[in-house]
Amino acid sequence: MKIISVVGARPNFMKIAPLCHAIYRHNRQYSTNSQQYIEHILVHTGQHYDDKMSEYFFKSLNIPKADINLGIGSGTHAEQVGKTMIEFEKVLKKYRPDWVVVVGDVNATCACSITAKKEHIKCAHIEAGLRSLDMNMPEEINRLVTDRLCDLLFTPDKISTNNLIKEGISKSKIKFVGNIMIDTLNAQKEKAEQLSIENIILKNIVNHDKTFSISSGRYALITIHRPSNVDSQEVLEPIINFLINEIANDLPLLWSIHPRTLKQLNAFKLIDKVKKCKQLILLHPLGYHELLRLNMSAKIMLTDSGGIQEEGCLLGTPCLTLRWNTERPVTLLKHGGCSVLVGNNVDKIRTEYRNMLEQKRKPVRPAFWDGKTAERIVDILTKTNV
Ligand code: UD1
Repeated sequence: MKIISVVGARPNFMKIAPLCHAIYRHNRQYSTNSQQYIEHILVHTGQHYDDKMSEYFFKSLNIPKADINLGIGSGTHAEQVGKTMIEFEKVLKKYRPDWVVVVGDVNATCACSITAKKEHIKCAHIEAGLRSLDMNMPEEINRLVTDRLCDLLFTPDKISTNNLIKEGISKSKIKFVGNIMIDTLNAQKEKAEQLSIENIILKNIVNHDKTFSISSGRYALITIHRPSNVDSQEVLEPIINFLINEIANDLPLLWSIHPRTLKQLNAFKLIDKVKKCKQLILLHPLGYHELLRLNMSAKIMLTDSGGIQEEGCLLGTPCLTLRWNTERPVTLLKHGGCSVLVGNNVDKIRTEYRNMLEQKRKPVRPAFWDGKTAERIVDILTKTNV
């Protein structure tokens, strides 16, 4: 059996690592000419290409080097999706796999599932059924298209399963397997725990001349990269002011900055203000273990990332999610998790920030977030004949 799996951008890497490892473990039982042996071809579309956004994750998560890199790079959505489809079609025509496996909700996920189905190749989606119901989010479009096309839909939680059922998708295609990212978290947690917070800062700090004093449990962790938060000055500037003029008075801030956000801070001439704030420490994009380590000991987290929200849920980190909606409701306080939606309105952020400062860490483990999701997926893929 031949499987092509696809990655494109940073949040895909922690989802593909467990799949690669589970296929490797599966194959150890069989000889290469056995029917059960999986020939696995890993394709990187190249949407993310900076060392710290890509290669670093391959090395630290022990992901085998991609067999094929499509070299797509940055561009508009149509450029990224269009170029990926053109290049991926060539790969499919050459290798004719039995399955294409896509993960998450980035442009690679959508582009490669469309291409697979147009080539009449079966396609499976890992992390299916998430819905924010926000059609302004490029990821929501990617999710809807991918789930509509795929033959197997691997869902991370029951809410996602129900979303697909409500959309009329046949139950036989839906497989509730749990959250594959948690396989990575379980496998890597111990390694992350060994890291020193001070060394992470020293290694990644943007302004080397800045002095800092950070103690465990006494800092706020920030990540912001969604276009809805960073692409307009009217939205981004008040958030920056809140971080600098309010949170920074209570706690030091550690901010791992995404290339898109850095570009926008420069474009809106906000970067000097950020750099000048003594309590705000700007860090280059962090590696998986580094961010996980900071997440483990943060007093509070402010993020618009879906994955970090989920990791925070497992670790119990009080989290302000800088969005008006989430495709991951299972992480919310009202569903037993530890995050609240605060959008990007500063009054709302302030109120919830005050409440959340009082929250104690409360780790939560939703059903099947047990580290065995990839094994379940490989088992189903090898037994399914759609
Ligand atoms: C993409 C995903 C988003 C995910 C995010 C995590 C889509 C639609 N969006 O958004 O779901 O949460 O990745 O990072 O696929 N850039 C670099 N180096 C890189 C990659 C990007 O400098 O290695 C810069 C480029 O200037 C680029 C910008 O970052 O224009 C944004 O990158 P892009 O791939 O368009 O989307 P993300 O915002 O990263």
